[in-house]
Amino acid sequence: MKRVFSGVQPTGNIHLGNYLGALKQFVELQDDHECLYCIVDLHAITVPQDPKALREHILDVAALYLAVGIDPKKSIVFVQSDVSGHSELSWVLTCNSYTGELSRMTQFKDKSKNKESAPTGLFTYPVLMAADILLYDTDIVPVGNDQKQHIELCRDLAIRINGKYKDTFVVPDGRFLKAGARIMALDDPTKKMSKSAENIHSRISLLDEPSKIKKSIMKATTDSEGIIRYDVENKPGISNLLTIYSVLSGISIEDLEKKYEGKGYGDFKKDLVEVTVNALAPIKARYEEIRHSQELLDVLEEGAQKADAIAKKTMARVKENFGLGR
Ligand code: TYM
Repeated sequence: MKRVFSGVQPTGNIHLGNYLGALKQFVELQDDHECLYCIVDLHAITVPQDPKALREHILDVAALYLAVGIDPKKSIVFVQSDVSGHSELSWVLTCNSYTGELSRMTQFKDKSKNKESAPTGLFTYPVLMAADILLYDTDIVPVGNDQKQHIELCRDLAIRINGKYKDTFVVPDGRFLKAGARIMALDDPTKKMSKSAENIHSRISLLDEPSKIKKSIMKATTDSEGIIRYDVENKPGISNLLTIYSVLSGISIEDLEKKYEGKGYGDFKKDLVEVTVNALAPIKARYEEIRHSQELLDVLEEGAQKADAIAKKTMARVKENFGLGR
């Protein structure tokens, strides 16, 4: 069975973009792959975090993983900092990466823009991400489009090290969906939907109340043409809403265009509110059920042990091939 690894940062506000670009794939893959799904708390501290809030957010994401349908009997669910191999391997990879390639990462460029100096962790963030992936001999990494450059770097590092030392790492492939890989902000469809945007109506969080979902969708930026047609270049707002509608309902975009022929944006948005509320209701209900349960803590404990056992084997191989230790 091919092995799958992916992760989500525990920074609150897990939104429709995270769900449609990544989490939905996680669930689809678990039946015929060996999957590891991680809550990447070490990545979260690349920017300042309130310790109490961080601990809560870790459990929030863990509960959401299970609530969207990740089954701990099929998949390993765990917290990154519970497995020390992530930090260990990250150092080994850091010593084989170059400041030039890390300076070209668009996420780092965005986050350090107009700053004379930036935290080193932000700079080496993609190396830790590569360590996450390579630590488990991962074949497939399901992610949204915004992670493409990071996956490329991970592949480059694996190939570089395999060429320099004995064959040490499996070279992974990214897995990106055709629809959903880049959900855009509702208030500005030229930007991706993000956890950190100030305007709460730019995103729909998975745990939003129906009234908030309604407000965000009804306010979503469209255009003045009044025709429901998929055209990302000229109609980015409507195209984004059509994508969300299509992925959540399972109706193709073509069929949606037909369904709404001659109808206005108001009718379309009202129906999208209903589709979204109905899709998120069971997730929210399951989340409330397990968020404060012992079951959740048990899943993370078992997950940590299973992940650690795999990680230890990889680290032993890395140390052997690099000549580290006694
Ligand atoms: P994070 O926490 O920002 O996002 C989690 C996942 O959601 C996807 N995503 C989106 N997909 C579609 N439309 C959007 N608007 C959107 N916004 C986010 C992301 O692509 C991601 O798949 N660096 C990663 C976490 C990470 C990781 C890893 C992922 C750390 N180590 C190893 C895979 C493998 C991140 O910050 O994701």
